[in-house]
Amino acid sequence: VVALSHDPGFDPYGSAFAANPYPIYRALRSKHPIFYSDKLGMLVFTRYRDIAEITTDRRFGRAPTQTTVSPFSDLPHFDRYVARNMLEMEGAKHQQLRTLVAPYFMPDRVQLLEQRVRKLTSQILDNLAPQRCMEFLEDVAIPIPVTVIADLLGVEEDARGQLRQWADATVRIYEHDHNQEDRHAAEQAVTAFADVLKQMIAHRRKSATDDFLSFLINAQRSAPTLTDDDVIATAMMVLNAGHEATVNASGNGLWALLNHPDQAATVRTSSLDAAKLVEEVLRYDAPLHFFHRYVLEDMTFADHKLRAGDRVGLLYGSANRDEEAFDAPEDFNIERHPNPHLSFGKGTHFCLGAHLARLELQIILPEMVKRFSTLEPALDVPDYHQGLVFRGMRRLPLIW
Ligand code: HEM
Repeated sequence: VVALSHDPGFDPYGSAFAANPYPIYRALRSKHPIFYSDKLGMLVFTRYRDIAEITTDRRFGRAPTQTTVSPFSDLPHFDRYVARNMLEMEGAKHQQLRTLVAPYFMPDRVQLLEQRVRKLTSQILDNLAPQRCMEFLEDVAIPIPVTVIADLLGVEEDARGQLRQWADATVRIYEHDHNQEDRHAAEQAVTAFADVLKQMIAHRRKSATDDFLSFLINAQRSAPTLTDDDVIATAMMVLNAGHEATVNASGNGLWALLNHPDQAATVRTSSLDAAKLVEEVLRYDAPLHFFHRYVLEDMTFADHKLRAGDRVGLLYGSANRDEEAFDAPEDFNIERHPNPHLSFGKGTHFCLGAHLARLELQIILPEMVKRFSTLEPALDVPDYHQGLVFRGMRRLPLIW
């Protein structure tokens, strides 16, 4: 058993990290592949092998085995609807909820949305074309996934405008540097969002529709343990997760493509496999870099002693650039195959929305570069916001 490696000065909320975390990850993988972070208060894993193993080892989980005081007891609605969603469950309850919801997000079902996503993308790009400039995130990367997920859930038009702000405020809490004001904003957002969902549920109890929310309510008849809180938490999770990461993946991916003009040219001129392009975009600059697991029993793992109740950090963003797992990992290569990146996670919590996210990205990214043959960013240095969990840009202005 090795002693805990000293904190190597990992500063995920510094500007160097926001600008480019990858050289920092590379140095960590070679010198401190497993280290204790004082800032995060946990042991952090940087190597592909360790991370992939932890996500599939049942001695680790998203929920601690012993009941501890909730870190969100001061935020009653957040605690009730976000801190207890599917991603924060383990074992039988997680299995039950996931099995129930999964068919809705399987490829055959998601494929039915293809025409809708294509049409929506075309319409948005048709409207923008005469302008010869756009802010990619506001104009394209946000409206497409927000519209798709809001349609899927059946959110009425007048509530849609707020979804983005609610999701932003809610997920801010996942960053370790959040402050009291952020906590207050998250609680407010979750409260408002839950009120809208409760009204939607009441409506559907009177007359069912054919959306995801009616599907969940209907499932309650045969699964009495599926509470109203579960329905609200699941709907909220799907709405938030359903667009935050997709927005950032679109921005990060388009930036990568535009900075590799030869590869953008390949997308324009050949019958490229859009699936390969999207997997590489997700690997090369993932929108989600960091997740944690609880240690469920005392054990020794990778020569480190771990105690039940400890948390460990998994740097998916680093695993995706691990030279032991990928050839030339620092190269952006849209033909890369195989590409077993960890951007959607692995194991029991593997992203439920992966097929939907892939469908959207496989349409948006090729469409953007094909439609605008002279497309270029209107800034020299990408404007990434600070963050360890979420990696994405504040804005991506484009001209053509
Ligand atoms: C590019 C876009 C996306 C990325 C990179 C992404 C990534 C992830 C990751 C890494 C996890 C696992 C977290 C962990 O290991 O602890 C996850 C879980 C999840 N994602 Fe996604 N996601 C994306 C889009 C979506 C979409 C569109 C949906 C909407 C349906 C969605 C719904 C979920 C759900 C429900 C879970 C929890 C699954 C469980 O706990 O069993 N995600 N996602």
